[in-house]
Amino acid sequence: MQSGRVHWSNRLAFIMAAAGSAVGLGNMWKFPYITGTNGGGAFVLIYLVCIAAVGVPIFIAELYIGAKSQSNAVQAFEKIHHQKSRWKAIGWLGLVSAFLILSFYSVVGGWILDFEYQSITGAFLHETDDQIAESLSVLFASQGRQLFWHGIFMALTVGIVMGGVKAGLERWNKILMPGLIVLLIGLLFYSFSLDGFQQSLQFMFSFDTSNLSGAGVLEAVGHAFFTLSLGMGAIITYGSYLKSTQKLGRTAVTVAFLDTAIALVCGIIIFSIVFSFGFEPSQGPSLMFKTLPMLFVKLPGAYFLSILFFLLVSFAALTSAVSLLEVVVAYWDEKHGTPRWKTTLLSGAVIYILGILSILSTNDWAEVKIFGLTFFDLFDKLTSQYFLPLGGLFISLFFGWVLGEKAVKEVFGDVSPFILKTFLWTSRVIAPAAVAVVMINKILQDFSG
Ligand code: TRP
Repeated sequence: MQSGRVHWSNRLAFIMAAAGSAVGLGNMWKFPYITGTNGGGAFVLIYLVCIAAVGVPIFIAELYIGAKSQSNAVQAFEKIHHQKSRWKAIGWLGLVSAFLILSFYSVVGGWILDFEYQSITGAFLHETDDQIAESLSVLFASQGRQLFWHGIFMALTVGIVMGGVKAGLERWNKILMPGLIVLLIGLLFYSFSLDGFQQSLQFMFSFDTSNLSGAGVLEAVGHAFFTLSLGMGAIITYGSYLKSTQKLGRTAVTVAFLDTAIALVCGIIIFSIVFSFGFEPSQGPSLMFKTLPMLFVKLPGAYFLSILFFLLVSFAALTSAVSLLEVVVAYWDEKHGTPRWKTTLLSGAVIYILGILSILSTNDWAEVKIFGLTFFDLFDKLTSQYFLPLGGLFISLFFGWVLGEKAVKEVFGDVSPFILKTFLWTSRVIAPAAVAVVMINKILQDFSG
């Protein structure tokens, strides 16, 4: 393998980095709110099935492609396959997705920073429940505040990526990620005592298909990709900083498990608050921002609790944002030899400007729609529900058909032929077919309805 290349210090450091990419706003903000808008149980079940049957295999495929090629998301396909490989289109689509996702992700990251600031000034402590519930709407009305915090979030992301993902992240990841987990477990225990706890569990885990449409199924599939950072080369890029292709299966399962557990815990906590205080589960993107601060002010140590929570969420969001930007930077760095700082600054600036469209979607341009969606929703849906699943579908096909049995053996080592075959055919047929069926179904529904 290439020398020169920077590698993770050890397996644990890598798992933390991959988990840092996976665990983010997708778990804490997006998962609860889309579970709410899709009616709960049935959506959660489909999401869980997708994580296991589609997410984990594609996670393994991406790790393998990265570790084997020791290359960024575009050149990985040239290295493993051949120079003119058409498969590298997957990498190109990934670069486009990185720009689009990070543009709205950083805006939401900015909201978190704003809430952290409000926690520090103690604003929530003096507010009535109604005022707290309105905090996000007040923020939406202010372009200045959103531009400012979106800028800070992007600047932090750029700063970390500029310093190199390894130096920038390994140290902090080791402290703050476990911190987040401990705090969430604490809140989970507290939510047991809330009146709405039972109802929360029922909402999330009772299976009622009547709530679910083709659009909901696609959203569940899309979210499985989004939450595991799959389908656009982020995991290929992180995998490329691994030294060997060994034990990738275990790594993928560990990360997927951690990511899913955190999402479910966040969901349980948030819906316990929803049902205790009589909120609407289906209110959309504001869900987390309305419910959690409301809970914090009622707890002992409210001031510090709220500061700590938004700090840890900011960090989780940053470690995810970094993995998105790294896809772009690694490519330009390796392909064109552009210095890291240049690409990072330039792409950061482009993404910042693109993010302004998402900010405008929350106020002046709330009625400006493309395909019936604001820019914010368009960037989110286009990437999560089309680009990422499509990228994942082709990654799976590439792994199963081009790399095939040899690669599977390398990943799994000495396991039974049954497991090898099962995995091989999952990545050749089952995973791609599942994604294709869901996408086609949704498109047909759109045309007939
Ligand atoms: N997975 C992250 C989250 O849940 C977001 C993210 C980071 C991502 N890198 C990605 C999403 C790559 C899609 C693709 O918050």
